[in-house]
Amino acid sequence: MPLKLTVIGTGYLGATHAAAMAELGFDVLALDIDPRKIELLAQGRVPMFEPGLEDMLARHVAGIEGSSGRLRFTMSWEEVADFGDVHFVCVNTPQKQGEYACDMSYVESAFGQLAPLLRRPALVVGKSTVPVGSAERLAETLTALAPAGEDVELAWNPEFLREGFAVQDTLHPDRIVVGVRSERAENLLREVYATPVAEGTPFVVADYPTAELVKTAANAFLATKISFINAMAEVSEAAGGDVAVLAEAIGYDDRIGAKFLRAGIGFGGGCLPKDIRAFMARAGELGADQALTFLREVDSTNMRRRTQMVDMAREALGGGFLGRRVAVLGATFKPDSDDVRDSPALNVAGQIHLQGGQVTVYDPKGMENARLHFPTLGYAPSAQDAVRGADVVLHLTEWREFRELDPAALAELARGLVVLDGRNTLDAALWRKAGWTYRAMGRPNA
Ligand code: UDX
Repeated sequence: MPLKLTVIGTGYLGATHAAAMAELGFDVLALDIDPRKIELLAQGRVPMFEPGLEDMLARHVAGIEGSSGRLRFTMSWEEVADFGDVHFVCVNTPQKQGEYACDMSYVESAFGQLAPLLRRPALVVGKSTVPVGSAERLAETLTALAPAGEDVELAWNPEFLREGFAVQDTLHPDRIVVGVRSERAENLLREVYATPVAEGTPFVVADYPTAELVKTAANAFLATKISFINAMAEVSEAAGGDVAVLAEAIGYDDRIGAKFLRAGIGFGGGCLPKDIRAFMARAGELGADQALTFLREVDSTNMRRRTQMVDMAREALGGGFLGRRVAVLGATFKPDSDDVRDSPALNVAGQIHLQGGQVTVYDPKGMENARLHFPTLGYAPSAQDAVRGADVVLHLTEWREFRELDPAALAELARGLVVLDGRNTLDAALWRKAGWTYRAMGRPNA
């Protein structure tokens, strides 16, 4: 009998994981406490933009014509507890209001609801990003609360998916990491991930704290890499160098690698910023805060990039924003996503608006979310409409659509021909040829 899986929490991580597990051939029951999400998902629709996810979901949701029927949704904890051999906990762990630490209340509540209903042997697998030490504590809760006692076990299996590539990253991960305490738990997870493992995905077996740390360490490393190249951008700017050429040149060293070396307005999103802060907070609790003080610098270098972009825009306008029109291309924290959580683009747009600029934002997929969070900014239905009459154009999220814009046509629409590339991805030569003054972060002015 193939294993029966459940997924608790159907946000980015959970919705993708549930659909991917059905794609791998398992029967999956997914739960959320939000009835609107469940209703939408049960119709094969997803509440966010993620390439390929809706198609994968629709291929499996029960009741959809032509689907495998392997994926169902529920709001009943009883049903989940009775159904699953393996339960994946995929709820989110946001940053606590006014603190660096992460908010564990959704995780606590999921375990609190599920555990007392577990009457048969089961493996509960935490996928949420949590402070190191959480698994140890949650394992105790499980054994104490579950009627099946020792037959219920915990494993920790961090998730490394990137927004925009969630489907691919879940079906073909570059590694699978499991924190386990028994061979039984390890074997169950080997069964769940048999397909990617057969394709060659490395399967790393660890203890609980190591598995938890792998996730935060990976995100801390990525954040550091981005802030490193942004620090080099600041030095390049001061020295008259070009950070893009520098990044290319150091990237050829395969110990360094070319990826994640794009200087610009820095990282944002629902993961990197809050994960490095939660990591610092947890290290402090463990008495290891000195080990992570560098992450404070990583964070502040990153946040400084946003202010620097605002300064560049102000300077381009001759010293002030009052009454000036600013076109902002991009609202999401990265392309191929509609996620605007801690978006550097909207942060910059918001700062300029507060300083008196008339900001008009356009984003291919993030308009609805941007409007919801920043209702006082102006919005336009296309890049052309945002640029019409603008005194300066800011490129703040690196969507392909923006690289494909025709700078000559835009030059007809704008009032001031200045473009500031906050992502270092536009073709500088092309824009300059069309009459624009092109400026980018960490690069010389031509
Ligand atoms: C990240 C991790 O990559 C992923 O493994 C983890 O599971 C969750 O957090 P994600 O939040 O989807 O994924 O975004 P990511 O692709 O890492 O980009 C983060 C931010 O860094 C974006 O705002 C992006 O624009 C920025 N970035 C990325 C740069 O500024 N420069 C770069 O070179 C790369």
